[in-house]
Amino acid sequence: MNRKEFIKSLGVAAAAPALACVAGCGEAGEGDAVAAEKGNPSFLELAKSRFSVRYYAKTPVEQEKLDAILEAARAAPTAKNLQPFQIYVLKSDEAIAKINSLSRCAYGAPVVFLVCFDKAKAWVNPFDAGDNSGVMDASIVGTHMMLEAASQGLGSCWVKFFDPKAVSAAFGIPENLTPSFLLDVGYPANGAAPNKMHFERREAKDFATYR
Ligand SMILES: Cc1cc2nc3c(=O)[nH]c(=O)nc-3n(C[C@H](O)[C@H](O)[C@H](O)COP(=O)(O)O)c2cc1C
Repeated sequence: MNRKEFIKSLGVAAAAPALACVAGCGEAGEGDAVAAEKGNPSFLELAKSRFSVRYYAKTPVEQEKLDAILEAARAAPTAKNLQPFQIYVLKSDEAIAKINSLSRCAYGAPVVFLVCFDKAKAWVNPFDAGDNSGVMDASIVGTHMMLEAASQGLGSCWVKFFDPKAVSAAFGIPENLTPSFLLDVGYPANGAAPNKMHFERREAKDFATYR
């Protein structure tokens, strides 16, 4: 969809600059009420129902669902829209065996996304030359993917516990790419449940500071 079609789909005048209110604007809770009427969970319901899945069923994940997860990655914002990420979809028996040999946190998932970024393509903050947006961009991409997986009824687990050099060597990842994290995805096995950490959440009053 191009910009003109997008604006038209919002039902606002093409010249209106107020694209900021695509969703979540209007009266508080209005979007939630509409979603609930349609039987869809609100964003917060989806976010709160997600948990890290560490036991997967052998059931393969449908290609349409993988496509939707990649589409969610595509929709993610990145600094200056530079899109410095590259995603490897590990799903062949060989690739899955390999990633399980490299990380004990693949947890037998039928699909593991390896999300990488190209530091040279990411945005650099002119006020702080050491600040490269690659990790941040990749993390937003991963968050979109993780929540799309949840909305598709799939479980996932974000994984950092692996040696990026070993993973790069094993999968022939080019040198310009930094493996950022793995995202295990699959149908949760019967009995898969959140672990203890899932319930240990700080209160907003303990991390939010109003000034
Ligand atoms: C950056 C990051 C790295 C993580 N690395 C791992 C990991 O290597 N292995 C693992 O089992 N879980 C990993 N997790 C999952 C967290 O442990 C989990 O999200 C957290 O305990 C909250 O639990 P929940 O996801 O069930 O809500 C990681 C999560 C994040 C965001």
